[in-house]
Amino acid sequence: MRFRPLLALTLALCLTVLTACGGGSKAVDRSNVTYEDIVNTGKANDCPNLPESARGSISLNESKRYQLRGMCLHPTEVFVKGEPANKRQEAQFVAGKILTRYTSSLDQVYGDLSVSGDTLTFKEKGGFDFQPITVLLPGGEEIPFTFSTKKLEAKAQGAAISTSTDFEGTYRAPSYRTSNFLDPKGRGLTTGYGAAVGLPSADNEELSVENVKRYVDGSGKMSLFINKVDSETGEFAGVFSATQPSDTDMGGKEAVDVKITGQLYGRLEEV
Ligand SMILES: *[C@@H]1O[C@H](CO)[C@@H](O)[C@H](O)[C@H]1NC(C)=O
Ligand SMILES: *[C@@H]1O[C@H](CO)[C@@H](O)[C@H](O)[C@H]1NC(C)=O
Repeated sequence: MRFRPLLALTLALCLTVLTACGGGSKAVDRSNVTYEDIVNTGKANDCPNLPESARGSISLNESKRYQLRGMCLHPTEVFVKGEPANKRQEAQFVAGKILTRYTSSLDQVYGDLSVSGDTLTFKEKGGFDFQPITVLLPGGEEIPFTFSTKKLEAKAQGAAISTSTDFEGTYRAPSYRTSNFLDPKGRGLTTGYGAAVGLPSADNEELSVENVKRYVDGSGKMSLFINKVDSETGEFAGVFSATQPSDTDMGGKEAVDVKITGQLYGRLEEV
């Protein structure tokens, strides 16, 4: 068995090289985390993070094509625009408690990134890009909404992904309810009653906003603030902030503005 020392040496060398090469992406290493470690802890909802030392920058070339992939957006705080305290004041955002704690993150969101002159443009194409979320307000009211990045088209200054890249753009906020939704009186868009049964003059105009169900799509505004970049792996991390309308119960209620902030993670790839 004279080969043994040689084999051991080769193996050791391979392992050292592998470890050295894999060092850059350590922060995302979840390999020693078991199902038991994750289940019912809410950790599956967390986005990967990068170490503080990820202060890189990746310059982009106009003649190449890029995508942002594996993007994760984890909402950590939600604020709801309330009534102003008096007429002279602006309406204030009130912090709500997120009731949907374990399934609130968007993940694997991807889209095209193009560079033209001094502007980056990101166009979202897909992924797990919407999540129904409910927040509880201090007064006990619950506000549901569909958090999404659907059709996000965001622009940033510069021709590189760096620790000061800020994307800003608009996205589609889909209706929280779908067409099969029945309200407490059994009224729906594609099913159920056309008017509340048993109410006198159920078809009068005052009741028509509740009687005539509509699919109301909203539009939101989102900013992605990148503050960590690993230029070796193409990964970036940061925070996001988005403002969008809440649920309307198929047009029956006024939407309120909700502001969502949280963690951001993603990967730049050349395609
Ligand atoms: C994974 O391994 C590292 C290094 O041994 C350890 O510090 C960390 O706690 C482990 N993570 C889990 C979730 O077991
Ligand atoms: C951009 O890409 C083209 C085609 O691959 C290459 O010829 C050119 O040198 C690149 N420009 C820079 C500044 O890297």
